[in-house]
Amino acid sequence: MCGIVGYIGNKTIDKELVDGLKLLEYRGYDSAGVAVLKNDKIYTTKAEGNISCLEKILKNEENATVGIAHTRWATHGKPSINNAHPHISSDKEWAVVHNGIIENFGQLKNDLQHNNFTFSSETDTEVIAHLLQQLNCEDKINTVIKTCKMLEGSFALAIINKNIDGTIYLAKRKSPLYISLNNAETFVASDPICFAGKTQSYYSLNDDEFCEAKIGKLIFYNLNGETISKKPIEMTDFDIKIDKQNYAHFMLKEIQETPSILKRIVQTYKDNNAFDKINNQILKNINKIILVGCGTAYHAGLVGASFIEKFAKIEARCFVASEFRYNDPLIDDKTLAIFVSQSGETADTIMAHELAKQKGAITIALTNVLYSSLAKKVDFIFPICAGPEIAVASTKAYTAQISILNMFAKHLCNVRNNTNFNFIDSLSNLANTLKILDINCLEDISKELINEKTMFFIGRGLDYFTCEEASLKLKEITYINSQAYPAGELKHGFLALVENGTHVFVIATQKALLDKTLNGAHEASARGAKLVIATQFDIPKSQLKDIYKIISLQNFDEDLMPIASIGAFQMLSYLTSTKKGINPDQPRNLAKSVTVE
Ligand code: F6R
Repeated sequence: MCGIVGYIGNKTIDKELVDGLKLLEYRGYDSAGVAVLKNDKIYTTKAEGNISCLEKILKNEENATVGIAHTRWATHGKPSINNAHPHISSDKEWAVVHNGIIENFGQLKNDLQHNNFTFSSETDTEVIAHLLQQLNCEDKINTVIKTCKMLEGSFALAIINKNIDGTIYLAKRKSPLYISLNNAETFVASDPICFAGKTQSYYSLNDDEFCEAKIGKLIFYNLNGETISKKPIEMTDFDIKIDKQNYAHFMLKEIQETPSILKRIVQTYKDNNAFDKINNQILKNINKIILVGCGTAYHAGLVGASFIEKFAKIEARCFVASEFRYNDPLIDDKTLAIFVSQSGETADTIMAHELAKQKGAITIALTNVLYSSLAKKVDFIFPICAGPEIAVASTKAYTAQISILNMFAKHLCNVRNNTNFNFIDSLSNLANTLKILDINCLEDISKELINEKTMFFIGRGLDYFTCEEASLKLKEITYINSQAYPAGELKHGFLALVENGTHVFVIATQKALLDKTLNGAHEASARGAKLVIATQFDIPKSQLKDIYKIISLQNFDEDLMPIASIGAFQMLSYLTSTKKGINPDQPRNLAKSVTVE
């Protein structure tokens, strides 16, 4: 959450900073701001709202040589100009932008107030600006290090000092921060996507590492103030230009990309099968598999656990990362732990990984971002090959995650039971035939949903997990209160909420469960529910009279149906969101990368 950008060079600084921020807007868009250094003075511009609000009031300071910028997802203090970053020390010597949470800020603020510092914001970050002033010494990087030693919690910091031209000071603990340079310019960002097309390689700061960044020169330090050397990371995947092309929104583009991503997964795993490392040698000691994630990634984990138990017959459970961390989970060195995270930066997932490692588990990251904090910590990486996902609501990454988990479950079965599942070919077949549903068929339903306050998704088995994900998508970008229920649980609360005309979406893709699911659906219809059924099966005529609409799904092997069915609901949420006048790429109060607890 929150995005940081820094720039040193001879281009128009504010513009460079804002262009960088636009690429990081997925990290938060409550407010934005820049600070630039010119003639020994720091100039700040801040705006409430997203980057376009900042862009409108930018002064484009000429002759500025260095600047830092920030897009905020509010943690401490409401979205407002006062709370927007950068924050400035009382003596106006230091400006700082921050991603993370300073857990001991209350105590630090009290101490600073006793020393007559006054605060102009409600943020935790402002303590850093005043601490820099309080601890200021000749050696500025030393000042930064001393300040960071006082901080508890997580931070990525970019800092400028009005007396030191052409320099940005950087610090990192638990929140990502990257630096890159060419001969004439130096770039700083929370995500290396900002360096695409500008440089060939970049550096990644580790926890409690610091950097003094100048033109053509980066000096790295550890917490003791000693210089350290770091190796650059080659840019490979980031040359992709991030734009919406002709799509109205990133979300639409990302849903439509799904079939091509599945093809890319097939090719990648054919060329270099990341599962091969999980061989008999490792598996002979494993008696349990756990999957851990948040939000959509958690739902992918639920589907994955079900695949693993079905195919590999190994006990598998999925946990929400924030619960896992505090429930003293029963895991040990016989546990294989899969951490599912598109970004690889979700704080709870990373902390859950730390716990699993402490308990001796073998760990895997199922992630889209191979340079992410999570990817750096695990024993093995399964790339999801989805390419940058910008819209806040995850779509293509989910479909990629469950596709890979489907293949992995079959790989485990092959290794454990000497079977011969050709899992790559079955996904390849799906990838070559999958079509994202025709928008027209969902238009009418989405028109009806715009006035709904409450609606439901019901399903059994794998379909129930699809219901959870479909319901989350709808909540996130339409603000409709939607709930997913196992279709066998309807008598336990759900039926009390059904009113005349309530939309109930029924996902029914598993033959053995079809009749039972339809029975539950008819009970809802008897109480006035409008049933919309998504299925690949022909519904018996006798059952049709109660059904309001059918969404016809393509027919694939049943274990692949979670991959084939979710697209319809991603699209439905998208269409409903845009009809309600909501920007689906930036739903209120949410951010894509949840880098704080
Ligand atoms: C939902 C969504 C979020 C993320 C969650 C985990 O559409 O995008 O719920 O799934 O924040 O993010 P990652 O997968 O990056 O760990």
